[in-house]
Amino acid sequence: MKPEVRLDLHRRTLDALNGTRPEGRAAPGEVPVDRYLDGDRTERELALLRHRPQPVAASSELPAAGAWLARDRLGIPLLLVRQEDGAVHAFLNVCRHRGARLLEEGGGDSARAFVCPYHAWTYRLDGTLKGLPQAFGFPCLNKAESGLRRLAARERAGLIWVIGDPDLADSDIDIHLDPLMDELEALDLSTPVAYAPRHYEVAANWKLLVDGSLEAYHFKVAHRDTIAHLFTDNLQIIDEAGLNRRLYLVKSNLDPANPPDADRFEPRRHGNILYFFFPNTTVLVQPDHAQFSTLEPLGPGRTRVHEITLLPAAPDSDKAERYWQANVDLYRRTLAEDYSLSESIQKGLSSGANRVLTFGTFEYSAPRFHRQLEAQLGAPDGVP
Ligand code: FES
Ligand SMILES: [Fe+2]
Repeated sequence: MKPEVRLDLHRRTLDALNGTRPEGRAAPGEVPVDRYLDGDRTERELALLRHRPQPVAASSELPAAGAWLARDRLGIPLLLVRQEDGAVHAFLNVCRHRGARLLEEGGGDSARAFVCPYHAWTYRLDGTLKGLPQAFGFPCLNKAESGLRRLAARERAGLIWVIGDPDLADSDIDIHLDPLMDELEALDLSTPVAYAPRHYEVAANWKLLVDGSLEAYHFKVAHRDTIAHLFTDNLQIIDEAGLNRRLYLVKSNLDPANPPDADRFEPRRHGNILYFFFPNTTVLVQPDHAQFSTLEPLGPGRTRVHEITLLPAAPDSDKAERYWQANVDLYRRTLAEDYSLSESIQKGLSSGANRVLTFGTFEYSAPRFHRQLEAQLGAPDGVP
């Protein structure tokens, strides 16, 4: 973290502890409930997500040249392959002959080529078409143009980020992530090891899950049995960088009666840093590791959550394993509290009780997220 950012965070943290609310003159907000219920809107949101970088795997899942992963995300069949030069390439996992799926979901360590299960068209690791049986039957085939469709891909913070639309293969992924991604990587997280990847479904709209990650008003109540005691009540210091955000959650270990001076202020020890990469990904930075989570909408009332814990090094003893697993368990228990509330909200949305959901001043970041999402859905940059 840059010294000036750390100093600014220190100053605003002390101001907040002295009673100056960090959200200043933020206005309360409202979000219409139909935005969480409308299937057409979900389709437009999915189209937007396919235009923005999505973290689809951990770098450490592709350890060496020839390693590959086939998985679907946002309804897109993806193939990720580590190349000889160390770079990861992403392709659509779809044969260029008659469109069969090239590889079933899964992965491997040492592929030499990929052979389509339908008629055995064969592709090299770099996606180019190597050959096909009885090629005389395709007198007009341009082999150079018949490789797998490539997608924009980039490794940042130990994750592989992919833009799912092949027409955006030349996009600059960093533009969507920096400067906050630079800051995140500088926190000992440039080459983390993926630990305990997990995937599960929640019966709620993905934006309800986002709403819960953009305010700390609920901590003291919803998280009373897990993490509430670790944090100062209802306090977040939020900075925006483009559509992304850094949310600083001040810990209760920071004594307001005897606060650290600027030299002794350690952002990772005195708080949790939550990076929010618009619109569906968070990285929660804790003192010695980070928790990454991304949301995949499956429908207006259903979301698949993908989580990975990012460690500075692989656990090398039973004790280390138990320590990290305890951290994962606490994170999971805490999010289970959030997600069960999201499910209860989803069930009541169409009851007629509320035409809009209401957000207070200190919850301003959530309705602001919805306004930004609306603007992006209506943007003339090719997004429907
Ligand atoms: S569809 Fe792949 S070889 Fe025919
Ligand atoms: Fe929460």
